[in-house]
Amino acid sequence: MTYPNGKVALADVNVSIQGGDFVFLVGPSGAGKSTFIRLLIREQVPTAGNVRVAGHDLLRMRRGQVPGLRRRIGIVFQDFRLLPNKTVWENVAFALDVTGSPRAIVRQRVPQLLNLVGLHDHAHHLPTQLSGGEQQRTAIARALVHDPAILIADEPTGNLDPVTSWEIIQLLIQINELGTTVLMATHNQEIVNAMRRRVLALEGGQLVRDEAAAAYEREY
Ligand SMILES: Nc1ncnc2c1ncn2[C@@H]1O[C@H](COP(=O)(O)OP(=O)(O)O)[C@@H](O)[C@H]1O
Ligand SMILES: [Mg+2]
Repeated sequence: MTYPNGKVALADVNVSIQGGDFVFLVGPSGAGKSTFIRLLIREQVPTAGNVRVAGHDLLRMRRGQVPGLRRRIGIVFQDFRLLPNKTVWENVAFALDVTGSPRAIVRQRVPQLLNLVGLHDHAHHLPTQLSGGEQQRTAIARALVHDPAILIADEPTGNLDPVTSWEIIQLLIQINELGTTVLMATHNQEIVNAMRRRVLALEGGQLVRDEAAAAYEREY
């Protein structure tokens, strides 16, 4: 992936992730983690090579097929990106509303998701009335509205304290155990080291390590 200004953000990255996996994407700032994620959700189209996600060939995909792809992939970010003037309930419901989900489905699905993320008691709070961890839980609930095959989290604990970060990781593990593939970009060494999952390490746009049950840093 070379950006229009000539910056080579990713080069010769060859990776395959199986459905149901839980994978950490690590590497210093500027390594290419967010670019990798942008390619998966077709926010960027690679300048060479190919990307296949959930049965779609993203280079051959027509513009009209992108919304369908995006429903197969839930995404959460470091900065939560909630709608500030909507409650927890409304933030989650809105993601269903924009795809034309019937009212009855919304009324059934939103409480299910708020229960899953442990926020049913906060349904009518605004984002400003929530802790960072609660805001991230809301964002995770919203990312799951279409029951995506894949959940991508781009530094989801980057704005959270250690205890809250652990709670978010436990939630992502639980979601993975329910069958969703999870890809999490992170700087959080403690979490990666404790979880011992597959680690993809990027440095300067190169995939420098792809290791199962691994630590944040190379151990050999
Ligand atoms: N839109 C863009 N145009 C040009 N360069 C970009 C753009 N987005 C990111 N980059 C550059 O690509 C490299 C990888 O960035 P990024 O994927 O955001 O890394 P990370 O998420 O690992 O911090 C960095 O050098 C960054 O400055
Ligand atoms: Mg990034």
